[in-house]
Amino acid sequence: MQPVLFVTVWLVVLSPVTGYPTGAPVARCVDMTPGHNVPSQSSPSPYTIVISTTTFTTNQSIRVTIQGPAYLGLLLQAQSTNTDAVGTWDTPPPNTQYLACSNNSQSAITHSNKISKNSETTYTWIPPDSIQSAFIRATVVANRTTFWVNITSERLSRGAAAEVKMAITPVVFLTLLTSLAFQ
Ligand SMILES: *[C@@H]1O[C@H](CO)[C@@H](O)[C@H](O)[C@H]1NC(C)=O
Ligand SMILES: *[C@@H]1O[C@H](CO)[C@@H](O)[C@H](O)[C@H]1NC(C)=O
Ligand SMILES: *[C@@H]1O[C@H](CO)[C@@H](O)[C@H](O)[C@H]1NC(C)=O
Ligand SMILES: *[C@@H]1O[C@H](CO)[C@@H](O)[C@H](O)[C@H]1NC(C)=O
Repeated sequence: MQPVLFVTVWLVVLSPVTGYPTGAPVARCVDMTPGHNVPSQSSPSPYTIVISTTTFTTNQSIRVTIQGPAYLGLLLQAQSTNTDAVGTWDTPPPNTQYLACSNNSQSAITHSNKISKNSETTYTWIPPDSIQSAFIRATVVANRTTFWVNITSERLSRGAAAEVKMAITPVVFLTLLTSLAFQ
């Protein structure tokens, strides 16, 4: 009895990371879970996804980091109105690689090994032309037994082109303020 039980528990406990030591497979793109049998954490995630801006234009680079303790594994996508991965990611940082979700070879990122990644690891998302809003969604595997699913960023909305914002220079702004003040 006991050796059998031991082997079973061992396999189940190790599966989140050792199941995919070199990254999540395409089959995990939609549910974004590391595998069956092991539950995700139900406690609040110690990880938050931080994005460099909440407005975007087509092809603008958006920097994405995962703030929190160091982590071993991840699955990272941008989503818009359903579970499809939208847009593309720039060259994956060290110890990570592309995963071809939604039939697009650069639409998601996963780990490529068990070397730890941290809040300095920066991912770059490139929004496509086809969407008006999106958010970044991640599964983060802290270690062998502990992972959180459905970690989401703030929503990103399509915004005015950066050039338009630049048109309001400090001089124009000051002139506006002055004219208001002296009305
Ligand atoms: C975005 O990038 C793609 C691929 O480089 C290019 O074909 C497309 O014209 C670009 N679109 C805009 C609006 O910059
Ligand atoms: C994925 O892309 C290939 C090649 O472009 C195409 O033949 C296939 O039908 C696509 N599959 C889906 C599910 O869109
Ligand atoms: C796994 O990660 C969690 C969350 O960071 C931590 O509380 C726990 O101690 C870690 N366990 C091991 C075995 O490293
Ligand atoms: C994921 O999180 C979002 C925002 O917290 C929530 O609205 C959504 O229902 C969650 N989805 C799943 C599949 O848990």
